[in-house]
Amino acid sequence: MQTLNTIKALRQTLATHRRQGDKIALVPTMGNLHAGHTALVEMAQRHADIVVATIFVNPLQFGAGEDLDAYPRTLAEDQSKLEAAGCNLLFTPNNAMLYPNGLEAHTRVLVPEVSQGLCGASRPGHFEGVATVVTLLFNLVQPDIACFGEKDYQQLAVIRKLTADLHLPIDIIATPTVRNDDGLALSSRNGYLDDAQRAKAPALYRTLCQARDALEKGMPSNDVLHEALQNLIAAGFKPDYLELRRANDLGPVSDTTQDAILLAAAHLGTTRLIDNMPILLPKD
Ligand code: PAF
Repeated sequence: MQTLNTIKALRQTLATHRRQGDKIALVPTMGNLHAGHTALVEMAQRHADIVVATIFVNPLQFGAGEDLDAYPRTLAEDQSKLEAAGCNLLFTPNNAMLYPNGLEAHTRVLVPEVSQGLCGASRPGHFEGVATVVTLLFNLVQPDIACFGEKDYQQLAVIRKLTADLHLPIDIIATPTVRNDDGLALSSRNGYLDDAQRAKAPALYRTLCQARDALEKGMPSNDVLHEALQNLIAAGFKPDYLELRRANDLGPVSDTTQDAILLAAAHLGTTRLIDNMPILLPKD
């Protein structure tokens, strides 16, 4: 695997591959890679000839007081994991390269509707930061496909919408959430949990599973969501949101909705965990 740290080197290397007719896949990441990321690389490999991963801790998607400075930077380990997973090129830009005139002066990409509510409500500006950096990376790499995890379900919906709205010729491929044996969704932020919090954390997944079973049996969603929130609180979480939405566009569920998604964010101490669960609502 080759690591490239200039835009010029990235463009030259990709131009050669494009001339050869290679299909190019992009896997954008913020580093501190785990099995969820390597699953993205493996998925990318199945769909393309060349897999380009990026590692960039994007300051534009972090709010004031969030974990930008604490976010783990583990480049050497990440390079070994990417290489082992079959990644061909790693691009590691820095702030000056992507935002040469500073964050405030930079053009932003705003994706309406799907960016609102859920994580968009608790993290103002977050999805604007994600949409901006993803659009930048799409333009720099010009991939045929790009892979994102379903764990960040709202992010995936934002990226699907920006790709469609801007007519970008890129197939967005989603990969299922990778979980620990106890059900906890893999996330770089799990590393912030102390032992006691780590022991409590799988209750988020268990709560979503119980709620799914109840909703799929046709129990009223208000009751199910209320009980699930109480369960999270009893397990030691401070819930941020727990909401049932339409799976395809995160709009409100109606009597005719069948494909739904239950999305949750909750704090354990200062660590904010997110997870989600697809729900097949029964026909009336
Ligand atoms: O999911 C992430 O790691 C980031 O939000 C992404 C998509 C790499 C953009 O910075």
